Amino acid sequence: MLDVRDLSGGYEPVQIFQHVDLQVSAAESIGIFGPNGHGKTTLLRTLSGLIDPWQGDIFFDGERMNREGRRGSRKWRNFNYDAVTRRRMDPKKVARAGLIHVQQGNLLFPELTVTETLSIAVSAASGRRGWSVAEVQQLFPRVAERRDHKIRFLSGGERQMVSIAAGLIAAPRMLILDEPTLGLSPKIRQELCGAILEIRKTGLPIILIDQDVAFLEQIIDTLYLFDHGRISGRMSRDEMPDHETLMVMLFGERH
Ligand SMILES: Nc1ncnc2c1ncn2[C@@H]1O[C@H](COP(=O)(O)OP(=O)(O)OP(=O)(O)O)[C@@H](O)[C@H]1O
Ligand SMILES: [Mg+2]
Repeated sequence: MLDVRDLSGGYEPVQIFQHVDLQVSAAESIGIFGPNGHGKTTLLRTLSGLIDPWQGDIFFDGERMNREGRRGSRKWRNFNYDAVTRRRMDPKKVARAGLIHVQQGNLLFPELTVTETLSIAVSAASGRRGWSVAEVQQLFPRVAERRDHKIRFLSGGERQMVSIAAGLIAAPRMLILDEPTLGLSPKIRQELCGAILEIRKTGLPIILIDQDVAFLEQIIDTLYLFDHGRISGRMSRDEMPDHETLMVMLFGERH
């Protein structure tokens, strides 16, 4: 369903990741595990078109998401596309195709209420049938309790729940979750993990970044190890070692 070939990218002029190949089928969920600052978020932001790929191709459901050609190859037939726009990828096109990205950190609008935030997500579904507001409120009772509150009065965990709820309303056919449980208290974290497991049970494929191997194991079918901007390993859930062994695989020694 998602087919990424030889993808490289970064923040001009610094290249962050290179030669990433990734295939995710419609029935599969994958995890990406790797050290801080090595480019996981940058890779995912490139997949969803928030930043431009430098090289390589991204297909979703058979459709090419990026403009053909390498960055810097400016001409397309007789028309110089890059004279009009330098962007090689359109995040709206990616969202319309159903690849929905819940970004790392709290990127919601602080002055909107929860209800207003969710109503924006409805428009992002662009006609496809996503989760209803009632359904996300059932999954996240806290979202229902806080519906009339502004985002800026919500806790970190509640904001994360609203972000994921908005992602579900936007009618995902594949859902990207970038460190959804980062920095949360154990109780809220457990609530959120439970909800993500419920989402997984609906059969929706998920791309999940998380530092907790035990949690990843519950959600994903395949784990990719990622370090220094490259995929350095791939294993099925059954082959996944514990946290300690994974760290040794990534860093080469015990700390
Ligand atoms: N907007 C930006 N402009 C320039 N450099 C950036 C930008 N955002 C991140 N970087 C740099 O890109 C590198 C990769 O960061 P990225 O956030 O992709 O890593 P990560 O693996 O997701 O880390 P973490 O586990 O902390 O979320 C880092 O060196 C970071 O400083
Ligand atoms: Mg990150």
